[in-house]
Amino acid sequence: MSTSAQAMRSLQKIDSLSSQQIQHLIHRALQLKKGEICPQPLDVAPVVALAFLEPSTRTRFSFEIAALRLGFKTVQFIGDSSTSMVKGESLHETLQTLIAMRPDLLVVRHNGGSDIDKLISGCGLAVINAGNGSEEHPTQALLDGATIFERRGQIEGEKIVFVGDVEHSRVARSGRILFQKMGAEVAICAPDELLPTTPDWSKSRRFSTIEEALSWSSVCIGLRIQRERHASKASLSQAEYVKKFRLDKTNLVALRGDAIFMHPGPFVDGVDLNHDVLSDSRCAVHEQVTNGVYMRMAVMGEIFGISYS
Ligand code: NCD
Repeated sequence: MSTSAQAMRSLQKIDSLSSQQIQHLIHRALQLKKGEICPQPLDVAPVVALAFLEPSTRTRFSFEIAALRLGFKTVQFIGDSSTSMVKGESLHETLQTLIAMRPDLLVVRHNGGSDIDKLISGCGLAVINAGNGSEEHPTQALLDGATIFERRGQIEGEKIVFVGDVEHSRVARSGRILFQKMGAEVAICAPDELLPTTPDWSKSRRFSTIEEALSWSSVCIGLRIQRERHASKASLSQAEYVKKFRLDKTNLVALRGDAIFMHPGPFVDGVDLNHDVLSDSRCAVHEQVTNGVYMRMAVMGEIFGISYS
């Protein structure tokens, strides 16, 4: 089964994918991981522009490694002091300039709001959204779906809880759409200050304590407090947050033995997760990173109609 060329020319929102397409991408990513299939290089290597106008470690390198493994070429644009942004060029004009160079694929992360989203979606290039503000992060949702499927053997029927800064999390926003589409139940657990106020979350089950959330779930996904997106959350005390919502050895006792816990990273050690839980057999944090490369290969492979041997 293949996804339609039109739907996969770009990936800007997770909702643009059907459940069959999601299943197909998960299957392909896991086949790539197991070495069951091998991508065949194209005659002319596509040029992928990686435009990260917000900080990134995993997503940026993951896309670059995935592109190189497919035999593609990459160029990096990082909005730092080596670019004309330091001379005062706007984000809009900077992106317009990159678009005018016509890369074969634009992988873009930004926090510029709806005007920038409009510029990107109307640019006529193949585009992958690598994170836009608090809105969407579709490849993270796909790699998280692959990790859940790999560990738990299914997504349908899973009980998935996001813990932490749900309000500002594009990971949770895209994840909720994907997981529900695949038949999972999605809940949230957050301090009052970080509970989402947007309508997309209005029907989701809410837990007020982490122990209740952990004993309900088969998958727990911790989130970082995204202070860079807080307009005025001065009232949120870090000490209070750590006491009630940090994932650590003490509260993870409440999570079943066959459940898993994940985190998109980066995690702030001791605040949203304690590093000593990384060795817990239920922890899938580094598998998420590994799966990210294979998922991005699967997505870019689909966009360029790569064949496999
Ligand atoms: C996240 C992001 O940037 O959206 N990380 C990621 O892409 N793996 C989450 C975060 O920054 O907290």
